Amino acid sequence: MNLEQGPPGIDVTVPSVARIYDYLLGGKDNFAVDRAAAEKLIELTPNAREGVRSNRRFIRRAVTLMAEKGIRQFLDIGAGLPTQENVHEVALRAAPGSRVVYVDNDPIVLTHGRALLADNATTIVVDGDLRDPEGILGDPRINEHLDLSRPVGLLMVAVLHFIPDAGSIVATLRDRLAPGSAMALSHLSYGDLDEEKIREGRELYKSTSAAGVTPRTHAELLRFFDGFDLVEPGLVVTEDWRPEPDEPRLPRIPGVDGYAGVGLLP
Ligand SMILES: C[S@@+](CC[C@H](N)C(=O)[O-])C[C@H]1O[C@@H](n2cnc3c(N)ncnc32)[C@H](O)[C@@H]1O
Repeated sequence: MNLEQGPPGIDVTVPSVARIYDYLLGGKDNFAVDRAAAEKLIELTPNAREGVRSNRRFIRRAVTLMAEKGIRQFLDIGAGLPTQENVHEVALRAAPGSRVVYVDNDPIVLTHGRALLADNATTIVVDGDLRDPEGILGDPRINEHLDLSRPVGLLMVAVLHFIPDAGSIVATLRDRLAPGSAMALSHLSYGDLDEEKIREGRELYKSTSAAGVTPRTHAELLRFFDGFDLVEPGLVVTEDWRPEPDEPRLPRIPGVDGYAGVGLLP
């Protein structure tokens, strides 16, 4: 029996990928089911905690790069629970006046995001589902906050692996972005896990809010950047995407790999 009570509208009986991720990052917005699923993930892939931290550093570097390229509007789909160095904080530091929209389909992200952003006029959080990209692009709240006819920094970080047919979704979004826009992706790959661990990992994700996981190969992920110019160093292991010289590098621990890259739309 689960004795924890979640906020109204929050299901604490099904592990949520947003809350599992929060736990892996050391956050407090998670429940017993999420912690149990996260611990199982760590058992299967001992690098899980390092992987999520590395992913967060990628977000900071990618948003900073987008700001340097002159981008002042950011659309972060699959934004996750607020943590440290959120997209709006990085964007506003790099380019004051930037406008940010967070989109997620997990109600807990919306509740916490709205509380955090209550007095922030430049950033909003809306409910939306990446499986319905037209719905996101046509959402009046998003169109009031961002001008989609001008360049946008689109982030889909650690989310596309929850979407089985992601190729057409990425293409739909790309086709609506203005020239000068950018897209940042990070994504799970199989790494050096053996067949049995991959099978157990898939089973674990089936029981979560995402109802499954679709790790992809480097070649499959490169196709998501069709139509974009990949910026240096290309699509690489997340930890290797523009590491900062003074940052401690994580030791390589066997397990799942993540790839990350940023593309610019000519
Ligand atoms: C692993 S977290 C990544 C959070 C953040 N992007 C990061 O990298 O730090 C994945 C997020 O994607 C969200 N998500 C999963 N499927 C989604 C969908 N179909 N539409 C919108 N968000 C989704 C989850 O709720 C979760 O918050």
